[in-house]
Amino acid sequence: MKYGYFDDAAREYVIDRVDLPVSWTNYLGVEDMAAVVNHTAGGYCFYKSPEYHRISRFHGNNVPMDRPGFYVYLRDNVDGDYWSTSWQPVGKDLEKAKYRTRHGLSYTVYECDYNGIHSEEKLFIPRGENVLLWDVKVKNTGDTERDLSVFSYLEFSFHHVMIDNINFQMSLYCAGGSYKDGVIEEDLFYEEDGYQYFTSNFEPDGFDCVRDRFLGTYNTETNPQAVINGKCFGSEEKGMSHCGSLMKRFTLKPGEEVRYIFMLGEGKREDAYPVREKYSDFKNVDAAYEDLKAYWKRKADAMVIDTPNPGMNSLINIWTLYQSEINVMFSRFASFIEVGGRVGLGYRDTAQDAMTVLHSNPDKCRSRIIELLKGLTTRGYGLHLFQPEWFEKEEKTAGFDSPTVVPKADKSVIHPEEQACSDDCLWLIPSIVEYIKETGDMDFVREQVTYADTFVEGNDFAESVYDHMKRILDFSTEQVGANGICKGLRADWNDCLNLGGGESTLVTFLLYRALDCFTELADELGNKEDVAKYTELLDKVREISNGICWDGDWFIRGVTKSGRKIGCKEDEEGRVHLESNSWAILSGAADRDKAEKALDAIDKYLFTPYGLLLNAPSYTKPDPEIGFVTRVYPGLKENGAIFSHPNPWAQAAACVLGRGDIAMKFYNALCPYNQNDMIEIRESEPYSYCQFIAGVDHTAYGRARHPFMTGSGGWSYFTATHYILGIRPDYTSLTVDPCIPADWKEFRVSRIFRGVTYNITVKNPDGHMKGVKRLEVDGIPADKIPVFERGSVHCVTVTM
Ligand code: GLC
Repeated sequence: MKYGYFDDAAREYVIDRVDLPVSWTNYLGVEDMAAVVNHTAGGYCFYKSPEYHRISRFHGNNVPMDRPGFYVYLRDNVDGDYWSTSWQPVGKDLEKAKYRTRHGLSYTVYECDYNGIHSEEKLFIPRGENVLLWDVKVKNTGDTERDLSVFSYLEFSFHHVMIDNINFQMSLYCAGGSYKDGVIEEDLFYEEDGYQYFTSNFEPDGFDCVRDRFLGTYNTETNPQAVINGKCFGSEEKGMSHCGSLMKRFTLKPGEEVRYIFMLGEGKREDAYPVREKYSDFKNVDAAYEDLKAYWKRKADAMVIDTPNPGMNSLINIWTLYQSEINVMFSRFASFIEVGGRVGLGYRDTAQDAMTVLHSNPDKCRSRIIELLKGLTTRGYGLHLFQPEWFEKEEKTAGFDSPTVVPKADKSVIHPEEQACSDDCLWLIPSIVEYIKETGDMDFVREQVTYADTFVEGNDFAESVYDHMKRILDFSTEQVGANGICKGLRADWNDCLNLGGGESTLVTFLLYRALDCFTELADELGNKEDVAKYTELLDKVREISNGICWDGDWFIRGVTKSGRKIGCKEDEEGRVHLESNSWAILSGAADRDKAEKALDAIDKYLFTPYGLLLNAPSYTKPDPEIGFVTRVYPGLKENGAIFSHPNPWAQAAACVLGRGDIAMKFYNALCPYNQNDMIEIRESEPYSYCQFIAGVDHTAYGRARHPFMTGSGGWSYFTATHYILGIRPDYTSLTVDPCIPADWKEFRVSRIFRGVTYNITVKNPDGHMKGVKRLEVDGIPADKIPVFERGSVHCVTVTM
């Protein structure tokens, strides 16, 4: 069953059946102000932080689901009938009202045809401004003149997600909503910058600032009293919960159209006036929208692929790039699942995200890397979850202690090393190396950066990025357990695998990869001593990897505190694990024969038509030595689900071994595009990877949950581009080394690398999966692809 389709030419996903099983979401805003919205205009908006500076309220995990949002109601003043431009909240009979939602890159359009009226509501946030525009068009498509009214509705937040939900004896009396000269102002009395405005391009015929007045007691957003009555109440009050409703009555002759712009902005009433003036001119609205389109086009143009796989083309050229960018911007803290209240940077997630869109967003990736380096302790482990603001020098201090100001850090935020996640920092080293390879910015290693623990002590001790990297490696090489395998500490990548004093093979393989990347960098820098020191460690880790970590047919997952191996043949539950086996191969730590067997084990024990299971069989018996994972329901999340994030690791691992057929089989299984017509099973949006899909041991097998905010977006992008298509930046050149299915005859990629456009054609006349036979640059045989002058365009032909 399908609910929509990919419109690649417009870079949109079109939902033409809006009664979806769950919300399909999208992200608005690419700078400070942002919103998460769904297919029925539900969602919320914030400025910088969804926790501390929430603009509009959201009732997460509620019934009716995913409300409120940015609603526009239309009312027929002759018969009193009313509807909304998005299907919800009014929820008209879909036999009578035709709805369509178009999710584009940083904008969403809601369309409705009902009873001779076509309406449209386009939501987007112009770049360089902190205002959410609601661009509304209403057209009379019938043959009689119509007498209509339009009403907007949004619910303001008390700025902090907790204050929205608790302690109402305080919060209900600290915010005020008032109307003057066409502008509603929401003010939060206890906060210096606690102002928002809501205005429109017209002189309203009515307004409401008090939520419960507009809606009416016992009514909801489905049937607001003001809309039923056909006029607002003109409510204002210092105190209570507030809304933004502006109302206008108008008539439309047959064929006639009106356009209304609503503006929800950050700032005081006086800040609204210039914005109101600017966007009362439709030319400026259109220009802001075009600018946003151009912004995304530039990003998409940095790499365009044309392969025999339409799903891969669509996702890599548009949606997976978008998802990866969104993750770098919003680092897991804003969705309908993460609804604020848990913000900041997760060390490992951010570290991985930072390497995925280096070609399209190097500056943001760089600043994320710096933030993470500042979140590192001098001991060499990172803070698992932290606010980058904690470690910024010029912190703005409020004149008084407002509950919505990000708290300052003190020593208590520096958790002890046993509380560190053993993998966190190891992800950062390859990301730094990838950053340098993409940009050529070798000076980056010399940049001086502070450390978290010394910073909170008021000490501005700083060292180079390179020194930070060494501290990470030194910490990890020290943290080994009884068998010489890296310790599990609080957890490794799998948050629910809490081995404590036990050991994790995954971390050992990640250490191998980090050491490998680092020695290569040290070599490039000519630091011979470091090359020698870290190569020795590398060899040691390799020996352990192929010794105690090997179980005969696959790699074990770890060893518990009491010395019991897990993820081995003797195990009835959790016998084979995806993460350790993928990374054994992908890191290069595994010997060839073991790597081949491990890949076969992944394919044999973990493959499903919806992607690879994280572990099989699922755990059913709680076991504190293994950790919380044994208390997660079988088939969900970290216990036997198709956890998406490690799936691309296995795809890349298959590429390392030259198994293009397996890589593509794994890619296609997880690829959400391929599930577009089975939404009765998948339920979630087919344009976004989801955190997990229920596994074989669960009744909801095949059902995807938690879109957008997952490392699988970035990793799918990275694996598809770097491993499957094999386009890899290097220190002084570009490498093209694909690993594809034998039946791909040809594919093309246009890639901008350090300002140079490379038009790459890969030919595979003899049906190989890997191996480059001939390379031509601008028609001349070559042994590498050099970095040419910025702005130049070159042709690369690779024959496999
Ligand atoms: C979630 C977390 C991520 C973790 C994964 C597995 O996606 O954000 O950090 O690695 O779960 O536990």
